[in-house]
Amino acid sequence: MAARGSVSLAVFLLLGPAAGVWCFPSLREPGCGYKSCPATKPSMLNVHLVPHTHDDVGWLKTVDQYYYGGRNDIQHAGVQYILDSVVSELQKDPARRFIYVETAFFYRWWKNQEQETRNIVTQLVEQGRLEFVNGGWCMSDEASTHYSAVIDQMTLGLRFLNETFGDCARPRVAWHIDPFGHAREHASMFAQMGYDGFFFGRLDYQDKAHRMQMKEMEMVWRASESLEAPTADLFTGILPNGYNPPAGFCWDQSCSDTPVQDDPDLEDYNVDQIVDTFIRISYTQAEIYKTNHIIMTMGSDFQYENAVPWYKNMDKLIRYVNAKQAGGSKVHVLYSTPSCYLQELNLANISWPLKTDDFFPYADNAHNFWTGYFTSRPALKRYERLCNSFLQTCNQLEVLGGPKSTHGPFGQGDSDTLKRAMAVAQHHDAVSGTEKQHVADDYAKRLAIGSAHCQVLVSNSLALLSGSNVPRVFCENLNISVCPLTEGSKQFLLNVYNPLARPVRWSVHLPVNGTVYNVTDSDDTPVDNQVIPVSKATQDLRRDRGSAQFELVFQVQAPPMGFNTYTITLVHNSPAPAPPKPGAPPSIQNKYLKVTFDTLTGLLSGLTNLETQQTIKLTQNFYWYNASVGNLESSQTSGAYIFRPNSSTPITINTKPEVTTLQNSVVQEVRQQFSPWVSQVVRLYAESKHLDLEWTVGPIPVRDGFGKEVITRLDSSIKTEGYFYTDSNGREILQRRKDYRPTWDLNQTEPVAGNYYPINSRSFMKDEQNQLTVVTDRSQGISSISNGSLEIMVHRRLLRDDYRGVGEPLSEPGDYYDGLSVRGRLLLALTPPSTAADTHRPLGQEMVFQPTLSFQQGAIHSTTPQFSGLTSALPPAVHVLTLSQWDQDSVLLRLEHQYERSESHAHSQPVTVSLQKMFSTLEVVGVSEMSLGANQWKEDMKRMKWKLNKSEPVTPLREREGDPVPWEITLNPMEIRTFLLRVRYK
Ligand SMILES: *[C@@H]1O[C@H](CO)[C@@H](O)[C@H](O)[C@H]1NC(C)=O
Ligand SMILES: *[C@@H]1O[C@H](CO)[C@@H](O)[C@H](O)[C@H]1NC(C)=O
Ligand SMILES: [Zn+2]
Repeated sequence: MAARGSVSLAVFLLLGPAAGVWCFPSLREPGCGYKSCPATKPSMLNVHLVPHTHDDVGWLKTVDQYYYGGRNDIQHAGVQYILDSVVSELQKDPARRFIYVETAFFYRWWKNQEQETRNIVTQLVEQGRLEFVNGGWCMSDEASTHYSAVIDQMTLGLRFLNETFGDCARPRVAWHIDPFGHAREHASMFAQMGYDGFFFGRLDYQDKAHRMQMKEMEMVWRASESLEAPTADLFTGILPNGYNPPAGFCWDQSCSDTPVQDDPDLEDYNVDQIVDTFIRISYTQAEIYKTNHIIMTMGSDFQYENAVPWYKNMDKLIRYVNAKQAGGSKVHVLYSTPSCYLQELNLANISWPLKTDDFFPYADNAHNFWTGYFTSRPALKRYERLCNSFLQTCNQLEVLGGPKSTHGPFGQGDSDTLKRAMAVAQHHDAVSGTEKQHVADDYAKRLAIGSAHCQVLVSNSLALLSGSNVPRVFCENLNISVCPLTEGSKQFLLNVYNPLARPVRWSVHLPVNGTVYNVTDSDDTPVDNQVIPVSKATQDLRRDRGSAQFELVFQVQAPPMGFNTYTITLVHNSPAPAPPKPGAPPSIQNKYLKVTFDTLTGLLSGLTNLETQQTIKLTQNFYWYNASVGNLESSQTSGAYIFRPNSSTPITINTKPEVTTLQNSVVQEVRQQFSPWVSQVVRLYAESKHLDLEWTVGPIPVRDGFGKEVITRLDSSIKTEGYFYTDSNGREILQRRKDYRPTWDLNQTEPVAGNYYPINSRSFMKDEQNQLTVVTDRSQGISSISNGSLEIMVHRRLLRDDYRGVGEPLSEPGDYYDGLSVRGRLLLALTPPSTAADTHRPLGQEMVFQPTLSFQQGAIHSTTPQFSGLTSALPPAVHVLTLSQWDQDSVLLRLEHQYERSESHAHSQPVTVSLQKMFSTLEVVGVSEMSLGANQWKEDMKRMKWKLNKSEPVTPLREREGDPVPWEITLNPMEIRTFLLRVRYK
């Protein structure tokens, strides 16, 4: 038993647990946070035991099955019992510590506790005995998440902790022990959320070996090239054993390591042996770390359901190891937490190496690259992204429409359900695609329920803002040309809500049965429109879900953070529009772009930017890698996590697709059918500066016994010399180089899979003259295997599990149980490299925060067919990342500078906006700035400072310049600022 508190323990045992909180006054620590850290011994090796559990917010079971402990036939795990048991064990000894991470679970548990338990837990938190680390709703995936959704999910969790326990519960440490690779943008966000440090478990095995040798397991990660250091600097530590205890020291009831058998009267007394082993592994571990403090993670997946064996054995371990000090041992072991360990590293006041790139891709061995999940479950990845966009619309309209948005003409709506569903979906086995099929279905269901709640809210808000109470429908299957309202109506209205702070144009395809329509905007101005036949590919894709024969295509515009209303009236039912013509044209073009085709093959052959007179050769086709089922080199198969092709040469699906072409005043389409399961529309809208590639893949045939990983590849005349560029969580750009890692000499063992990286929103390749940017609609894996080439993995269907625990082959059934079909879009833009950001930043943003379309029967009947929530558009560099109701009279606002420091001549400068007159329906009466996670006032945010190795660039501890006058807010490149506004409705 640790010396501290043993007296009080006796007191406690006498009184019993029912005595409650007030029986502890003598135990009150001077404070929580770092102040509550246990004493250590400066002259010894201090071993920080961190009792913890890793609770996946869904993986093999759904989040609620994990919470209750249901379906224990799949995996024995019940989080409610973990918290019950830990809280009871913590009370037995004030020296004991526990950390809790996933607020999604803690929130479920807390809701169900009696006041008495709540009081006990509050005291444990206030004394630092129960410490929250990370504290987001979940531990997000880092490869396939978009920063907007990550910030939202962190905000949700951190807000719950603050509101429940106050500042004592504010996590000081970010903790991503399980995600499969680590994104630089995540580190940047954590730094801006005020975390002092970050710990994780998984990194490339070669990287780890190198770092162990160099004693560089702990470092300072400089996570932004744009933000002034140390704004995005984050102390980062790699845990020694992943997140498991050292071998032989797992004392969970699910483990079978030998307990401490310390009664000399009994058989198998083993204290000396256990103590010796522990001291030996402590010294071994200390060899690869820099200070006289080391950390050991005492726990693992869903452990501590019965916390007794863990604590009982650790109590003894601590007692017997420390008892050796009397005989000269220099090892001091203690219950601790990540923040207490971090504090000791900080107090050591030594210098640390600097890290500026990221931790992708992650390989745990030579043929085991975790690069498949960048693409796994492409439909879930897209649905999550769509829901993020809809959640932003829902949040904004809740604010702009005022309190009646939640209780309006269409009943009760809310944004909370979708917020929670989105937060759960960010988990590292959710949007990552590495969960079992039934769990993936559960995530999608939660998103659908959340969206339904938001639809009511949005309907209410739009009714209030537009003055029309006619019911609205949200046609969610427009991508497969299904919308009963537009198909069956002689007249209907389309409301286009734009969540961006600048006006946007967007092209819509509405399923219809008539052949001639009249479209007018809210000013009664006619809008050029065309009716085209629904393609065969779309008919094959939707099967029996709809029967519209045609699509009505036109361009819509919507004001900043506002809407426009279009009236669509049927004029004729015949004649049918001309079917597409067979064959590919030599070229299609508009004012901005010329797209050439090889008329023999029907494939793309080149791209010209007519404004800049740049031309590149560009071919594009679809291929599949044959998924490895293991070979002599390694038994590793391709699966939900791992990408391992059995050959580096992908198989061409068709070098000469069937092609038809359709051209009119609104859109030109070259429709390519590569096989019954791969098709594409190469689409150029009249007003568009980019080319649209709409791909459709599936059901992927697997009767031949081969798992298939489908890519599309762009082969260009651009001289890339092995370099290409990917975004990090949709934000800053990282340079990638084939067969290369910036921080160690790579031994490349998987020439394809080892060169894959995640993209969330964009990628590009460039040379001196030309940059080809690809903007995508969901997270995917990407690589550049040869000069001038970019390949994007769009879909995968596999027949084997990959032995990382999910226990299922990734073979999604789809709605018809014959394999999932997926449709998506890639936007291509050709520009000079110097102005590329001016194109890809807004384009990427339009793809992520896309307009919400809603439909009403009949003619215009609203008093306000056009509306903007802003008094005027914000400058092009400024993005409203968050506008969300916080409580009754306050609103959370995040403003973001969306350009990097030197990527745009036009926009990479500081920009100032005024908060006071920003909104048309709200008066801002008070402003307070917060940390990025909105759980701390900006002025209270003080982070630990770290010294860098002398060889590293000096940290310029420069303060950013203040705002010119209060409420005039200056944003520097890549800066996000978070404000709580007190508002009054005008
Ligand atoms: C549209 O046309 C198809 C084919 O004629 C028909 O089956 C379907 O019922 C029509 N839909 C509506 C809503 O009129
Ligand atoms: C934290 O929660 C408390 C209530 O528990 C509240 O008074 C305080 O304003 C919150 N802090 C922040 C930064 O929101
Ligand atoms: Zn996990």
